Amino acid sequence: MQRVLSGVQASGKLHIGNLVGALGNWVRLQETYDCYYFVADWHALTTGYAHPEGIKESTKDIIVNFLAAGLDPEKCTIFIQSRILEHAELHLLLSMLTPLGWLERVPTYKEKQQELKDRDLSTYGFLGYPVLQSADILIYRPRHVPVGVDQMPHLEITREIARRFNHLYQREVFPEPEGLLTEFPKVPGTDGRKMSKSYDNAVYLSDPPSEVEQKLRTMMTDPARKRRTDKGDPEFSPVYHLHKIFSTKEEQAEVAEGCRTAGIGCIDCKKVLIKNVFTVMEPIWKKRSELLGDPGLLEEIVRKGTLKARAVTEETMQTVRETMGLR
Ligand code: TRP
Repeated sequence: MQRVLSGVQASGKLHIGNLVGALGNWVRLQETYDCYYFVADWHALTTGYAHPEGIKESTKDIIVNFLAAGLDPEKCTIFIQSRILEHAELHLLLSMLTPLGWLERVPTYKEKQQELKDRDLSTYGFLGYPVLQSADILIYRPRHVPVGVDQMPHLEITREIARRFNHLYQREVFPEPEGLLTEFPKVPGTDGRKMSKSYDNAVYLSDPPSEVEQKLRTMMTDPARKRRTDKGDPEFSPVYHLHKIFSTKEEQAEVAEGCRTAGIGCIDCKKVLIKNVFTVMEPIWKKRSELLGDPGLLEEIVRKGTLKARAVTEETMQTVRETMGLR
């Protein structure tokens, strides 16, 4: 079976956009690939080193959501980056041969620095973010890395580092992994912008039912429908775009018609959406509360995943050490 690897940085919580996007894709992939999925807690320190308090909690929440969303520890390997020290060792060794210019040219480097102006990101670790990510990936020698477009520059530098390593030592240690770019539906947040933890517009997997309902009930709709009798255009309503993801074709047609003719009000339309989002969330809420009530089970799953992952990383590192003149 071909290997697949991907990870999520441990800064913040997962939302329903992540669920229908990345996570849903990961769940499908576990059926046909040998999948490794992990929480990148070291990466959270590259921007959050001054305030590391939330990392532990975020790591746990993400693992719980992996499982609640349908990742099956019998089918895939789930682990935490910082428990596998070989990732750090490979990061160090790859840093020896990664030209500074390559790192300075990664678009996310300057972008993130601009975006997080309140933090001092002129650090060695932040510049090295893509090297750590390359180590995370290459150490498993995966065939595919499912990621969103935003991560493609990191995947490109990973491939460049692999090529440089193989060329320098005249040995095909690291096959070049391929990005697996899946077309995800665009998921709007409650204010109509892209759902994101940085916009405070997200419906989180950890939100209790009452909060999900409240967020969806007060979600933005087509601004043209100020009064119940005003006709609207569903395409201008973020609520309708969520219907496209969560509702049946018939329901979509009905609410669209009701919106255009003012046959239904926005609250009626949202009620249908809330019902359908609840249908998707109910098994997740159930699984979450089971897991949160059984920390021993959670720890056992991660422990097993870590052991399995480490078997792979140890093997890769033997080859790498030998190739780089160590041992
Ligand atoms: N950079 C990724 C993110 O922001 C997290 C990540 C770290 C990752 N290492 C990885 C993703 C390796 C894929 C493969 O979410």
